[in-house]
Amino acid sequence: MATDLPRPEPGGTSGFAPGAASGTNPSDSDRHPTAPGAVGAPDWRQTLPVLTSATVTARELVTEDASSLLPLLAAEEVTRFVSPLPATRDEFERFIAWTHRQRALGQYVCFAVVPVGMSSPVGVFQLRSLEPGFATAEWGFALGSPYWGTGLFVAAAHLVLDFAFGTIGVRRLEARACVHNVRGNGALRKLGATAEGVLRRAFRSHDRFYDQVLWSILESDWRAATARGRSGSARGNARVE
Ligand SMILES: CC(C)(COP(=O)(O)OP(=O)(O)OC[C@H]1O[C@@H](n2cnc3c(N)ncnc32)[C@H](O)[C@@H]1OP(=O)(O)O)[C@@H](O)C(=O)NCCC(=O)NCCS
Repeated sequence: MATDLPRPEPGGTSGFAPGAASGTNPSDSDRHPTAPGAVGAPDWRQTLPVLTSATVTARELVTEDASSLLPLLAAEEVTRFVSPLPATRDEFERFIAWTHRQRALGQYVCFAVVPVGMSSPVGVFQLRSLEPGFATAEWGFALGSPYWGTGLFVAAAHLVLDFAFGTIGVRRLEARACVHNVRGNGALRKLGATAEGVLRRAFRSHDRFYDQVLWSILESDWRAATARGRSGSARGNARVE
């Protein structure tokens, strides 16, 4: 992560962690070796596809998104249980540039979530590789609180999960949620994620340490859920442009 951006504290991220994918100074030295399986994969590293469903679009962040996302994602109710977010417009714009560099390196992607009928995003979903080739990855997400409880989360999550498992080739997707984060844990549960255990004092916020739940979704879980059909989802109409 960039020196000019907040970084998660050592010992763990929590759900949404801008710049969590690398060290303090992103550069080509952050590059993971390219996994053999990545050869010939759709080239999301050059630019992210636009993912759409009936209710939401997920697309690459652009610099102008900083002004709409900053007030939504810097709100206290959003940041309470997650790693520090860019606090100023300047920092947010640098964060967006960083997401593009990390995507080009094949280590990380960040989707902006835009409800149908709007042009500005109201949240983000991040995926970061935990090993060369992205087979094991971690994700995090945050929406502005006016959009909580609207169904936007599940619709966007299904687009991003389809992309992670179907396009990037993720086999195991992890998430960490502070044990006190009722909505974050509930959101992962309703997607069918499995709670694997508690990571003791893994997340630091304001000089306090908190336990986190480690959640996972396997590619095979997701395929099985897809085959069964998923309720409450706009996935049936999802398409990639
Ligand atoms: C996490 C987040 C993206 C989920 O989006 P959301 O729109 O709030 O999610 P949903 O409304 O679909 O609710 C998810 C679950 O939270 C729980 N929940 C929702 N409203 C609740 C309430 N008022 N009280 C307690 N639990 C509640 C439920 O378990 C719910 O699942 P259900 O609909 O099956 O009952 C959003 O809350 C957010 O951005 N939070 C701040 C950032 C964050 O915590 N990120 C995740 C880190 S792991």
